[in-house]
Amino acid sequence: MNIEKVDRILEEHEYKHSAIISIMQDVQGIENYLPEDTLRYISEKLELNLTRIFDIATFYKTFSLTPRGRHTIRVCCGTACHLGGASQNLEQMKRTLHIKEGEATDDSMFSLETVNCLGTCALAPVVMIDEDYHDAVSPSKIEKILSSYHSESKRL
Ligand code: FES
Repeated sequence: MNIEKVDRILEEHEYKHSAIISIMQDVQGIENYLPEDTLRYISEKLELNLTRIFDIATFYKTFSLTPRGRHTIRVCCGTACHLGGASQNLEQMKRTLHIKEGEATDDSMFSLETVNCLGTCALAPVVMIDEDYHDAVSPSKIEKILSSYHSESKRL
């Protein structure tokens, strides 16, 4: 935990209880997830019940209590995507990355999640990686899609 950065975030939000979600978003921006020791620290500094903070962290899908990869993969498993083969895409992702849903790869490159609808049902089945939408995804396309993120990372 980077205490100085967390303290700065708390100061920016004037230690207000009403800003807890924004505080958690900013803190997650530091490490890409919310470490338990950081949440305990915030709870003490704000004098806000730790259970309340964990409730928020588990309620909103945007928060993660486990380390995330550099790229977040969201496989849509809503009705339209399910009918289009989302389950097969999800299984192929798991096989290719050697992780389960909710986990990150050993190299911290990718983490894998599912969502119920990305709002682009006409393009089903859809996979979202970070802010990019990939439409009409099939298991045979997955390796190529993922490799584009590997090449992108090498260029950075
Ligand atoms: S069900 Fe997948 S985008 Fe709507």
